[in-house]
This record gives sequence, C-alpha cells and structure tokens, in this order.
Amino acid sequence: MVTAVIGSQWGDEGKGKIIDYLSLNSHYVVRFHGGNNAGHTVVNSYGKFGMHLIPSGIFNKKTKAIISNGVVLDLETLLLEIETLEKAGISVKNRLFISPRCHLIMPYHKLLDRLYEEAKGKQKTGTTGRGIGPVHADKVSYNGIRVSDLMDKKSFSERLKIQLLIKNKILAALGEKPLLEKEITDLFFKFREKIKSFVSEPYSVLQKAIKAKKQILLEGAHGVFLDNDWGTYPFVSASTVLTGGATSGAGIPAKKIDRVVGVVKAYTTRVGEGPFPTELFNKDGELLRKEGNEFGTTTGRPRRCGWFDAELIRFAANINGFTELAITKLDILDAFPKLKICTHYVLNGRRMNYFDGDANFLSRVQPVYKIVVGWQQSTKGITNYKNLPKEARAYIKEIEKLVGVRVSYISTGEKRDAIIKISH
Ligand code: GDP
Ligand code: IMO
Ligand code: MG
Repeated sequence: MVTAVIGSQWGDEGKGKIIDYLSLNSHYVVRFHGGNNAGHTVVNSYGKFGMHLIPSGIFNKKTKAIISNGVVLDLETLLLEIETLEKAGISVKNRLFISPRCHLIMPYHKLLDRLYEEAKGKQKTGTTGRGIGPVHADKVSYNGIRVSDLMDKKSFSERLKIQLLIKNKILAALGEKPLLEKEITDLFFKFREKIKSFVSEPYSVLQKAIKAKKQILLEGAHGVFLDNDWGTYPFVSASTVLTGGATSGAGIPAKKIDRVVGVVKAYTTRVGEGPFPTELFNKDGELLRKEGNEFGTTTGRPRRCGWFDAELIRFAANINGFTELAITKLDILDAFPKLKICTHYVLNGRRMNYFDGDANFLSRVQPVYKIVVGWQQSTKGITNYKNLPKEARAYIKEIEKLVGVRVSYISTGEKRDAIIKISH
C-alpha cells in the first residue's frame, strides 16, 4: 500500500506530525522532492525536531527512510540532521538511503538565491534562501552536480570546474567575490566521506516493496500552492509538490499510489510573498499567529495567517486526487467565538475559481465567507471524535461538505498521540 501525504495549502500544514504518526505502521518513508526549504516538525517521546531533509518517519525504528532522486541536497544540513538524530538516540545506520541521483546544493546556488531576491526588490518571492530555485534551474538546464558525481571524485572536479567558470563570471558581474575551487572541493570531499555509506539507488528496493505490498509513505514537502506549475507563480517553490511528482521524484508509478492524504491546517498560513485571499490583518490574525505559534520552522519568519479557504482545498483535492483529509491544529481555533470559512471567490460580481487566473488575479478576488460559531472550549489532546464539542464537529463537517473529501484524521496538538482517527 502506497500512501502519499501532501500539503494542501502554502506549506506548514503539519505534514511532519502526520508522517510521524503514520510511520508507526510503515516500512518505508520517502521524501520525493524539495530540499531543506522544508521544515517538518515532529514532537514525540524523543523530543521536538525540525526535520529539513531526513524523512519525518525516521523515529519509528522499524521504518527505513529514503531520500529519493527528486530531493535537492544541502550536505551540511543533512549531516547536522544525522548528528542531531544520533544524539537523541535515533540511529540512521542501515536505515537511511540517499539516491545517487539527488542534485547537490552548491555554495553558488545559495549566493544566487540571495542575489536574485535582492535584484527583484519589492517583487521578491521571499525564498528561504537555501538555493532551491538556482539548484533546480541548473538541474533542468543540465548543469547540476549530483551525488553520483561526488562519489566519483574526478567527475565532481570536472563538473565543478566548468560550473565555477560560469558562476564566477555571473557573481563578478553582480559585484561578488569569486568562489574558490579548492575550498569547495575540500569541503565536499569531506562531506563525501561522511555520506558515502548512505548512498545507494533506492529504485529496486521500492519496486520490490510495492510488489510485496509493504507500507510505503511518500512525504510531500511544502504545499500545493507552492507548486512550480500550479501554485501562485512566481511566489512558489521550484519543485513539483503534487502527488504526481512522486513518479519522477521517487520512481513510483502513479497507478501504484493507493491513498492520498491531504494535510490541511484548520485555518490558512503562508510564509514569504504572494497572494493570500483570506489573509487577516486584524486581531484575529494575530490570535492565530500567537495561539498557533506561527513562525517558520526553517527561517523563523512570522507566518501570515487567515481563515480556512475551501476554494483552495477543493482545487488541491482535485489536482492531487485526495482520498482523504488530515485536518491539523483544530485546537488553535479553541478561543474563537466565531469562525469564518471561505466558500468561494468573486471578482466584479462573478464567481471565480482558483485556477481562473494568475497570482495577480488571485490578489484581486474577494473571498465569500460563511460564518460558523466557535466552540470556546479546549480540544487539545482529544483523541476521540465523540469528545469533540458539537460546534467543532460541525466545523469539520462543513469542511468535508465544501471540499467533497472525507476527513480521516484530526490533529488536536503537536504531540504524536494528540490525534483522532476516524474509520470510515
Ligand atoms: P510541516 O512543514 O507541514 O511539517 O509543518 P510545520 O512543522 O512547519 O508547522 C506545523 C506546526 O504546527 C509545528 O510547530 C507542529 O508542531 C505544529 N502542529 C502540528 N499539528 C498540530 C496540532 O494539531 N495542534 C497544534 N497545536 N500544533 C500542531
Ligand atoms: P514545508 O515543507 C512554507 C516558500 C518560501 C517562499 C517560496 C519559495 O515546511 O511545508 P524557496 O526557498 O523554496 O525557493 O522559497 O516557498 N516555502 C515554504 N513555505 N513551508 C515550506 O515547506 C516551504 N518551502 C518553501 O517561504 O515563499
Ligand atoms: Mg514546515
């Protein structure tokens, strides 16, 4: 059984929490796209962790963790993450596998990320500064350096030399100092020694696991509206966030994905620039940020907060083929006397869909709200659906109705066991 877990908004929906929980019954967990722009929080008996590259299912000792070819790798972050896990008593030896096809984030990618943002000024995307756009640009224009190159020192040196020839000219034109080949080579050859035992092609492992009907979890990063094609371009990330991305990003045939769990925060947040129809600029927005501790796991930036937007989730459900939803952070709404749910958009008096236009269009649409009563009592840590206040159950039902997908999980706290499982 292959289960994909996909973020349905602009990231930070609580994918890490859901993956950590679902990994208890999984043989494999696979990160199939993105890089260390992702920050997935896991809170369990080992402590609290912000996972950037290693799949969030690593905490279940029986689960094998795969970083597949679709992921772009910052080796310094990866090594720090391995060290943090080992210190917490989670051994990754013989459990972590890295695809040799992964592209490496090089020092010039991070520099170029910053320089592009500076050049764009007010029009900046608000990236995480991790070199994600530039490394993908090199990947698709055949200028990337992959893990397999690093495993072959000669290949790495040859490819780096050519890249520095080009990149140093660009950097000089933008007023930056040139990068030194020897310094980068020495650093990456040190990284090489530390990661080489984890490098092995996961393709046949996953194919065999699919045939043997093992439980495989695909851990999506970011969120649908950061997808490079279908998100709010240019305020997006560089990878394919959608379920279908697992075919290219992990070598999983689309037909073999049995379940697609859309992770949906009970309200909406966004980090970085770009349109956000239900964004709140008042005390309700501040309350969501404060109660939800809405500050970026990767960059610490305050997240923009707003009401639940069913128009977005309907689109996310259709394009990903969600078979079910996991609603997170329900407990953050505990204090609100009334809540708003955006049912759809209008522009100049006409009903509009998310997909009717671009980012500019989306910044002009008006959300139409349905007002529902809040429950004003604590739902934190509730694990049984029947114990939810009736107003909270009505809120969940309203979401199910507007999105047209059933809810299978409701998360009521950051810890692994603060979750309601609904059997259908
Ligand atoms: P991800 O990137 O989708 O994995 O999400 P993040 O980890 O960046 O952000 C989600 C935040 O919400 C983290 O701080 C989680 O610990 C926290 N969280 C997840 N689910 C819940 C929940 O149901 N209730 C509360 N209070 N916090 C949650
Ligand atoms: P997780 O996996 C929230 C956003 C950045 C920026 C845009 C482009 O934790 O949900 P990038 O560095 O990718 O070039 O930045 O994408 N972004 C995220 N926002 N959560 C994430 O990941 C994100 N990954 C990228 O804030 O707006
Ligand atoms: Mg996150």
